[in-house]
Amino acid sequence: VDLADFINLFDFEQMAKGKMTEMAYEYVASGAADELTVRWNRQALDAIKLNPTVLTDVSQLDTRISLFGQKLAHPILIAPTAYHKLMHPEGELATARGAGLASALYVVSSFTTTPLAEIAQVATQPLWFQVYVRDDREFTRNQIQEAEAQGCQALCITVDTPVPGVRNREQRGNFRLPAGVTIPHMGGPIVEKKPFTWNDIAWIQSFAKTPVLLKGILNPDDAEKAVQAGVSGIIVSNHSGRNLDTVPATIEALPRIAERVNRRIPVLMDGGIRRGTDVLKAIALGANAVLVGKPICFGLACGGAEGVAKVLQLLTYEFELAMILTGRATIDSIDRSVIWDSFRENK
Ligand code: FNR
Repeated sequence: VDLADFINLFDFEQMAKGKMTEMAYEYVASGAADELTVRWNRQALDAIKLNPTVLTDVSQLDTRISLFGQKLAHPILIAPTAYHKLMHPEGELATARGAGLASALYVVSSFTTTPLAEIAQVATQPLWFQVYVRDDREFTRNQIQEAEAQGCQALCITVDTPVPGVRNREQRGNFRLPAGVTIPHMGGPIVEKKPFTWNDIAWIQSFAKTPVLLKGILNPDDAEKAVQAGVSGIIVSNHSGRNLDTVPATIEALPRIAERVNRRIPVLMDGGIRRGTDVLKAIALGANAVLVGKPICFGLACGGAEGVAKVLQLLTYEFELAMILTGRATIDSIDRSVIWDSFRENK
C-alpha cells in the first residue's frame, strides 16, 4: 500500500478491510447491537453547520493546548484501543512510533498486547494509561502503579464498561486472540465488575500519583458527581457505540456536560471524529481535546507507525484548514459562535 494514496480518514477504513483478518476487521469496525449509536456519532457531527468569520488575521496559527500542565502540539489524542497486534505485527510499538511522528499523546489501553515498559522505550510523546477496574483490588493497584512507574502521565478510568455490550458482529466473527498474542497488563480477557461505584474511584484517588480522568461520561449529573469527587478530568464517550446501543451521539451529550462542568476541569470527547471540522465542532461545543479510536486501528493495519502518523497528520492538517477557514487562529478563539445557529430567527 502506498500511503500517499490515502487522502482522508475514510480511505483507511476501506483499505484496512483487505489488510486485516476478517475477525480483526469485524472486531474493530463493529458496534453494539444494531449499531445505531455508531451511526449517530457520525450523523450528529455531520448535521452541525459552521458559521465562519472572514478577514481575520490567522497568519499565526496556534493549535497548542495544555492539559494537566502538559504542553501538547495539538488537541488530537490517540484513544485507548485494545489488541494492536491484531492489526499489525509491531502492535503498540508501531502506534507509539506513529504518535511520535505526529506529535500526539497516546492513551495506552490496559488491553495492550505489548508491555508498557517496551512502549515507553520507543515513545517520544506523553503516554497516558487506560484502566479497566477489576474486582481484585491488589491487581488494579499494581496495574496502576506499574503504569505510573513506566512514566504514564495520567490515568483514564473507563467507567462505561462494567460488562461488555451486546457485540453481535463480534460474536459472529468468532472473536478470540490468536496464539502468541497476550495481554500482559490485564491478566485475563473478561471484563466484569458489576459492583463498580464511586467508592472505587475514591479508592484509586487515594493512591494515584497522576491525574485521574473518568472515561465514558454521558450524563451531566455524572459529570457533576465527577467534579465533586475531585477527579482531574472527564472524557465524554460512548465507547464508539460498542457498549450500550441507542445512547446519544457524544457531540450531542457534550454541550450539556460542558455547561454543567463550566470549565472547573477539562472535558475531553471521543466518538466519530473523522474530519478536521469535527475537531473544531467538538472544541466549539466545550471539549478541551478529542480522541480518535477506530481510524488509528485502521491506520495501524494499513501502514504500521507510518499509517498511524498519516491518520493523525491528515486530521491535524484538516483541523488547521478548518481554523483558517473559520477565522480562528487559536484554540481559545474556537467558541460557540463558530457554530451556525439554525434557530436564531425563532428566538
Ligand atoms: C475501543 N475503545 C476502548 N476504550 C477503552 O477504554 N479501553 C479499550 O481497551 C478500548 N478498546 C477499543 C477497541 C476498539 C477496536 C475500538 C474501536 C474502541 C473505545 C475507544 O477508547 C474510544 O472511546 C472510541 O474508539 C472513540 O470513538 P471512534 O473514534 O472509534 O469513533
